[in-house]
Amino acid sequence: MKGIILAGGKGSRLYPSTICVSKQLLPIYDKPLIYYPLSMLLLAKIRDILIISTPHDIDNYRKLLGDGSRIGVRFQYAVQDQPRGLADAFVIGEEFIGDDSVCLVLGDNVFYGAAMSTILQKAMNSIANGGAAIFGCAMKDPREFGVVEFDPATGKVISIEEKPKHPKSNYAVPGLYFYDNNVIEIAKLVRPSARGEVEISTVNDAYLRRNMLHATVMGRGVTWFDTGSPKGMHKASGFVKTIQEMQGFYISCIEEIAWRKKFIDDAQLRKCGEELKQTDYGQYLLSLLNKSEEEVN
Ligand code: DAU
Repeated sequence: MKGIILAGGKGSRLYPSTICVSKQLLPIYDKPLIYYPLSMLLLAKIRDILIISTPHDIDNYRKLLGDGSRIGVRFQYAVQDQPRGLADAFVIGEEFIGDDSVCLVLGDNVFYGAAMSTILQKAMNSIANGGAAIFGCAMKDPREFGVVEFDPATGKVISIEEKPKHPKSNYAVPGLYFYDNNVIEIAKLVRPSARGEVEISTVNDAYLRRNMLHATVMGRGVTWFDTGSPKGMHKASGFVKTIQEMQGFYISCIEEIAWRKKFIDDAQLRKCGEELKQTDYGQYLLSLLNKSEEEVN
């Protein structure tokens, strides 16, 4: 399976902070925002990753992440010249996806929870014979999101709508999606919505109509933040700081995940730690090497 991180857009809800810096490069507490969605792909053991951003920002992503060898993965980069919408990711990524299935994660979504690896694995398994897999997260007011409605008796998806004025459920759809290869052709057929974007919810609705949309609720054990506004970024930063300080485990530390998943060995992790040793982040990486197996797991 391939992975795509969509890290373009205008970030206009964060102006003036994002007038000259891409939103997904801004920090959530101690690391760039893009590390958080990237860590989801790493947890899913997806190692071929396409990063899509604007013509103006793409080189900064190259500078930050390189070719991926540092953490044992392969990064490629592509430009989206206009923020046409999320479904555009599969048109831009057509050649990169090739004959494979694909996971799309939005560059501004932050997830945290001990069950994440299992949740991702289950979603991948659910589309092993085709289809799409999405999630639902309970939200007091989901009007700003894609909203999925479930049949209470069977748990099957009944409807999916983008930013509905009158949501049919309280389940918002987070920016993490799994698709079979048909997504490329489906995305090409999506026409812009009333707000002028090719919507991911239209892609998901196409799978629903084919009876091939799997949706799972991310329960209480998972925390999800959409960091599209200053308040969202502040909330996510506070959460990461609190958990890291209290528990001593870092959230979405990409080098740690790469090491735990055995994409890199001890020597490579040490190198990553040495490079950043003037920071708590670098010291954390080095400290992992001094812990026993039991402490680490
Ligand atoms: O966060 C989850 C929500 O994300 C979903 O519930 C919605 O169904 C989905 O449409 C999306 O809604 P948003 O309004 O939050 O999307 P936003 O425009 O903020 O874009 C999400 C990310 O994708 C953000 O990191 C910017 C990037 N992006 C966006 C567009 C429209 C691009 O890279 N290119 C684009 O053309």
